[in-house]
Amino acid sequence: MSQHLEGQTAIITGGMRGIGLGIAKRLRQAGANIVIWDLNVDQWDASAAGFTPTLRQAVNVASLASVEAAFAEVVEQLGRVDILVNNAGINGPVVESWNYPVEAWDQVLAIDLTGVFYCCRTAIPHMRERQYGRIVNVASMAGKDGVQYISAYSAAKAGVIAFTKSAAKELAQDGVLLNCIAPAMVETGLMAEMTPEHIAASKAKIPMGRFLQIEEIANMVTWIAGPECSFTTGFVFDLSGGRATY
Ligand SMILES: NC(=O)c1ccc[n+]([C@@H]2O[C@H](COP(=O)([O-])OP(=O)(O)OC[C@H]3O[C@@H](n4cnc5c(N)ncnc54)[C@H](O)[C@@H]3O)[C@@H](O)[C@H]2O)c1
Repeated sequence: MSQHLEGQTAIITGGMRGIGLGIAKRLRQAGANIVIWDLNVDQWDASAAGFTPTLRQAVNVASLASVEAAFAEVVEQLGRVDILVNNAGINGPVVESWNYPVEAWDQVLAIDLTGVFYCCRTAIPHMRERQYGRIVNVASMAGKDGVQYISAYSAAKAGVIAFTKSAAKELAQDGVLLNCIAPAMVETGLMAEMTPEHIAASKAKIPMGRFLQIEEIANMVTWIAGPECSFTTGFVFDLSGGRATY
């Protein structure tokens, strides 16, 4: 396997499980030193994960102070951050928009959108200074299409896409590339927050007739996060099994 990320440092938010863990594994295989940011980083099963991260830090991406403190520690210990994968996210309740609990709305926006902003805001000055960086924001097909009963999630992910495009234009001449991915549904812990009807409806929308695999996401992210991705910024890479047509 290509070791094209040898010597680089990659931060993966929400990297303790699911898609984030899959991305972390794959970036490690490509040679990167892995830093995991998650709410609870106590129980790392090295034999199940197949690797041990260089650093694991308890970070709440919805807290700017928490993000800034963790980032400063990474720079102090490892000297550089080349890759940031903003993957941490929650689904929130599945309910009509007019009944959507205000507190849940605020929480979904705080983690799924403002958290991405906080992490980018913190990492970008360091990347600009080094004139190199790759930021991959995990959006969702929901952010392109809008999905009924998950309006907060869809709005947050649409916000991630627009934020990525805006910042990418600002940084286009600084060697810092920002892109996002828009995956269709994957079977992860996030599904526990969804109803069986919602899961079935999501699968029915995918022309390939199956759910996406974490490894498929990880392979795509590993390319976007590397130096071979050199002329694409502010783009949304779909992983939709044929669902996305624009
Ligand atoms: N599963 C899917 O079908 C799917 C589809 C499209 C996009 N996504 C997106 O992919 C990302 C990962 O989803 P997943 O399915 O692996 O979910 P998951 O619930 O399995 O994992 C999410 C991880 O994020 C962490 N996290 C949650 N809030 C956090 C916070 N405030 N600070 C730091 N870490 C936090 C959790 O502890 C967990 O480890 C999310 O952004 C999600 O919206 C998922």
